[in-house]
Amino acid sequence: MAGRETLTMIKPHAVENGNMGNILAMILDAGFTIKAIKMVKLSLHQAKEFYKIHEEREFYGPLTEFMSNGPIIAAILEKDNAVEDYRKFIGSTDPTKAEEGTIRKLFGKNTRENAVHGSDSDENALIEADFFFSKMERYYN
Ligand code: CMP
Repeated sequence: MAGRETLTMIKPHAVENGNMGNILAMILDAGFTIKAIKMVKLSLHQAKEFYKIHEEREFYGPLTEFMSNGPIIAAILEKDNAVEDYRKFIGSTDPTKAEEGTIRKLFGKNTRENAVHGSDSDENALIEADFFFSKMERYYN
């Protein structure tokens, strides 16, 4: 059975542009509940750790530089089928290919600065949630 949690980050450019309120409102309107949330500025070391699965990719350096450039919002979102539904909801990694009305279409600039991150599997959602949040920082219904 698919898991009920996914991890999102609102990326630095979207926070800097003042879009975190709009993005969070869209997430809540889409039926996700927020189980944990924080604003944090990642160090380069932390960004590299978070995106370690991409360390062989050519975009790893620029991506981790960008992600440690300013504050982000990290949140654990809860909903049935959370990982898949959230990925559909935010749109394609490349904002130019994202469907109209998706967060990445509305707020993304390019493939790196694509407004939000979403976990790509239930397994990674758990790892990513543990990266940002202790048990005490999570709200349970
Ligand atoms: P995100 O959901 O944060 O997960 C991994 C990130 O890598 C992805 O969003 C993009 O920002 C980035 N990414 C993936 N593919 C590319 C690419 N081809 N060029 C630049 N960045 C990429």
